Amino acid sequence: MLIAGNWKMNLNSSDLFEFQKLIVNEKIEKKVEIAIFPQFPQLQLAKQILSKYNVKIGAQSCSSQLSGAFTGDVSADAISDIGCDYCIVGHSERREFHNETNEFVKNSASLLLSQNITPIICVGESLNIKLQNRTQKFIHNQIKECIPDIVSSSLIIAYEPLWAIGTGRIPKNEEIMSVHNVIFNELSHVKNLKIIYGGSVNLSNCSNVLKLKNVHGALIGGSSLKFKDFLAIYKTAVKQVI
Ligand code: 13P
Repeated sequence: MLIAGNWKMNLNSSDLFEFQKLIVNEKIEKKVEIAIFPQFPQLQLAKQILSKYNVKIGAQSCSSQLSGAFTGDVSADAISDIGCDYCIVGHSERREFHNETNEFVKNSASLLLSQNITPIICVGESLNIKLQNRTQKFIHNQIKECIPDIVSSSLIIAYEPLWAIGTGRIPKNEEIMSVHNVIFNELSHVKNLKIIYGGSVNLSNCSNVLKLKNVHGALIGGSSLKFKDFLAIYKTAVKQVI
């Protein structure tokens, strides 16, 4: 199980120290990982002050190119240099505002795997696609086009329906389970596969989501910025697993 906090373009170094103050008193279980994804400039400090408490650190995006003249982009190599465990790729906000395509996602994920960083590949349908009952086909296609040809180590897929991100709306349990099943079936060849859910996960709905059979954790935006809530969600996950 993984409880991951995507801080997006929020918080700064002083917040990392606030988070550290709270995490010092937490018992981080082996069976449930906790990870945070701050902005790039805070990754080094996050690694420095939090990894001793078993908090995993991840980046929010990664270039699809190895290196070169790509001003403003960050390479898998640089992310590995910091010692990141994870990197989110293909988040819907990257797809929307930075035109990241399935091909881009596949290339970034391959580069991350080559650096032994676990990619968290985001997939999810828009409201339009959902209303047209095309969700399963759409996800099937995203998975087919985004997954690297060779997955030598572990891989995480985050199912994040676009209409659930930051809206307070969340799919029905059956909807989450059926999409996670589509992903499982498509990726049955991947040995260390986790599928996590993201989109309006909060303290009140987390136990309902995390109890689902094929849900291996959550990718949390808004509620990860409220550290007490985030840690309470972590504790809920621990209760379900242990
Ligand atoms: P919210 O939890 O704010 O809906 O964001 C989800 C998300 O985009 C995590 O990557």
